[in-house]
Amino acid sequence: MTILGIESSCDETAAALLNVTKGRFSLMSNIVASQARIHAVTGGVVPEVAARNHIANAIPVIKKALGSRIPDVLAVTAGPGLITSLLVGVQTAKTLSWLLRRPLVAVNHIEGHIYANFLDQNILSAQDQKIFPAIILIVSGGHTEIILMEGHGRYTLLGATRDDAAGECFDKTASILGLGYPGGPAIERCAQQGNTKSFDLPRPMLDGKSLEFSFSGLKTSVLYLVQRLKKEKNFNNNVRVDICASLQQAIIDVLVGKTVQAAKKYRVKTVMIGGGVAASKALRAHMALSVQQSVSTARYINPPLKLCTDNAAMIAVAGYFHAVKKDFSHFDSLDAMPRWELTGE
Ligand code: KG4
Ligand code: ZN
Repeated sequence: MTILGIESSCDETAAALLNVTKGRFSLMSNIVASQARIHAVTGGVVPEVAARNHIANAIPVIKKALGSRIPDVLAVTAGPGLITSLLVGVQTAKTLSWLLRRPLVAVNHIEGHIYANFLDQNILSAQDQKIFPAIILIVSGGHTEIILMEGHGRYTLLGATRDDAAGECFDKTASILGLGYPGGPAIERCAQQGNTKSFDLPRPMLDGKSLEFSFSGLKTSVLYLVQRLKKEKNFNNNVRVDICASLQQAIIDVLVGKTVQAAKKYRVKTVMIGGGVAASKALRAHMALSVQQSVSTARYINPPLKLCTDNAAMIAVAGYFHAVKKDFSHFDSLDAMPRWELTGE
């Protein structure tokens, strides 16, 4: 089966062609047109600007991903995300489904981030059932969630952020520190030169049994710290890299601590991560070490680096698991669902 994935939920227009033969995945193309440079000027995504660029990019990106091939199935992100952005991908996929007379699958964006793990050097084959139950940490610009996955399509949300998402915390503090957008990669680069112990920043909600998160207080702590250092004329590049290292470590300690706590509680077989923040090499390294040391029942898997931020390969993989269950949407009735929550069967 070949699946064309289409993704346009935020500021990346993406299309990918995936072949699945005997449960093995092979990615035939993976095209991403990023608008990061356009949105860097405004320090964040302007929905209407994103939608206009999706319209310009959609057909060229899909054409490039397909070449002369015709897919068996189309899979598109139908939500959650920005409504103006989602509409472009959904409408394009509906039109293609009608023109090519191929079935259409609606994929939840978060589910896509989960399934990016399945492209990790084919460690997991499509038929491998030894992965469940699994705990997945989803960390992106809009989401911070711990999900229990008991089988394909079977999800329970165990905890989420009460306010800012982890990626949002990176983006907002990067702006306070005078670094560019997106903030996560900029902070990661600076953090490599800094000392994680220079500033004692809070680890919000790490104590206790709750699997919820809160990152807005951490952002405020950095704001007050920078304001004080500037007032004292002590803010310079050395201090900035130390703040980046300390902040990144604080966020990672919370994310890893809660994920390990959930993995132990549910005695899971697998721990996975997903979403843009999962591209953090420091997060990947700390998570790998902690799972190995503290969760004897589980193995740790992460998506290939390139498939952490938004892409359509992950949408195609998730789409495959829906297609095998014939969980199709009709092009007449499918609509974008900006607040679509990932729920179990
Ligand atoms: O999944 P994604 O591409 O889009 C959303 O669905 O939000 O995630 C984007 C987020 C941004 O907040 C960005 O700062 C963060 O992922 N990010 C990172 C890194 N690369 C991207 N955060 C920390 N470290 C990174 N290396
Ligand atoms: Zn995303």
